[in-house]
Amino acid sequence: MLRSISATSTDAMSSSDNKPERTLADLGVTQPDQVLSLFAEVRARFDGQVSRPLDHPGWEILRQSWLGRKSGVLMLIAEHWLKPAAPDLKRSVGQELNKLKAHLETTLEERRLDVESLADHAASIRDRVDLSLPGVTRRSGSHHLIRRVFQEIEDIFFSIGFSVVEGPEIETPYYNFEALNIPEFHPVRDDMDTFYLELPPSPDKKTAPTPLLLRTHTSPMQIRTMEKQKPPVRVIVPGKVYRRDNPDATHSFAFHQIEGLAVDTDITFCDFTGTIEYFVQQFFGPSVKTRFRPSYFPFTEPSVEFDVSCPFCGGTGASNGNTCSKCKGAAWIELFGAGMVDPAVYGFVNYDAKKVSGFAFGIGIDRLAMLKYGIDDIQIFFQNDVRFLRQFP
Ligand code: PHE
Repeated sequence: MLRSISATSTDAMSSSDNKPERTLADLGVTQPDQVLSLFAEVRARFDGQVSRPLDHPGWEILRQSWLGRKSGVLMLIAEHWLKPAAPDLKRSVGQELNKLKAHLETTLEERRLDVESLADHAASIRDRVDLSLPGVTRRSGSHHLIRRVFQEIEDIFFSIGFSVVEGPEIETPYYNFEALNIPEFHPVRDDMDTFYLELPPSPDKKTAPTPLLLRTHTSPMQIRTMEKQKPPVRVIVPGKVYRRDNPDATHSFAFHQIEGLAVDTDITFCDFTGTIEYFVQQFFGPSVKTRFRPSYFPFTEPSVEFDVSCPFCGGTGASNGNTCSKCKGAAWIELFGAGMVDPAVYGFVNYDAKKVSGFAFGIGIDRLAMLKYGIDDIQIFFQNDVRFLRQFP
C-alpha cells in the first residue's frame, strides 16, 4: 500500500527554513562560499522532501511550493536573494539559482513519472483478476415438478408410438362439450362448470359473439385432432385445464391433464387395458397392479375408472402396522378416467364408426405428481415457493 505524505507549503517553508524570505544581507551572507552552502542547504531540504513517498496530489503540492510562480521557494530566492544581492555576489547567486532550478525541475519530473507509474501499478493490482478466488456461482434452475411429471408421462407414451399435440386453453362450447357428445343441459356439465369469457360484441352487431370458455379438460383436442387427421391416430395432449372449483388441498381452479387418444381400424378393449397397464407400471414401478371399474363419460362407451394397487403399502392397505396414509387402507388408489371412444363422437369428425375403434383417457397430472412425490397439498404447485421447488433439482 502506498502511503503518501502530502507536502504542504508550510512543510517546504517551515519557520526555521524561512531564509528565502530574508535577504542575504539579513542572513549575514557576504562571501560566495557562504552563498554556495546556503544553496546546498536549500537543495538538501528539497531532496529530503522529494524523496518521501508521494501520491499525485502530494507531488503537485510539492511542485507548487518549490516552483510556484507566486510564493514558490525559487521565486522567493529570486526576489530576496538575487535581486537585492550585492554586485559581487550576484553572479554566484545567479549561477546557484539556475543550478537549483534545473535540479528542481529534473528531479520533480522524475518523481512525476515515478508517482504515475506507481499509481498505474496500484490500479493494476486493484483491478487484477484473481483466478484463485472462488467464482460467482449462479444456481441453475430446474423444471417445475408438474413439468417433470409431464415429461415422465410423455416419455412413456413416446416409447409406444404416441406423439404429442397441444391445443388452445380458450375453447368454444362446441369443442369442449357438444362434439364430445355433451349437449347443452346435460347433467355432466355441472361437474365441469367453467369460466366463460366476456367478449366485446362483434363489430357488425348482427351476430352475437361466439361464447368462449376456458377448457375444462383436454378432451376437446380429441375432436380437433380427429378433424385434422385420418386414422391411425395416436396422440397425447398435455396441458392446463380450468374448473370453477374452490381451492383446497385437492382442488384448484387451474390444474393439468394429459389426454390420450388412439383410433385405428382394429383397436380392441384389450389394447386399451394393456396400454394403460404398461403406462402405470412404467410410472409407478413393475409391481403395481391395475384394475378398472365401470364409470360414465358421455364421449366414451364403455367408460371406466382405472385404479392402481397402492404403490406405497404394496397394495395391502397397511404400512408399519398402521393404516396406509396414502390409500387410507383401501389398498387401491383411484387414478383416472378412460374408455373406448363413443361411436357418437366419430359422427362429429366424419370418421366411419363402423370401421374404426379406439380408446381415450384423461390423466390428472397434479394428482399423479402428489401421489408419486408425497405432496399433500395441490396449492403448493402454484405458489412458486423456492423452498419447495428446490427439492426437485
Ligand atoms: N375428460 C375427462 C375428465 O376430465 C377424462 C376422460 C378423458 C375420460 C378421456 C375419458 C376419456 O374428467
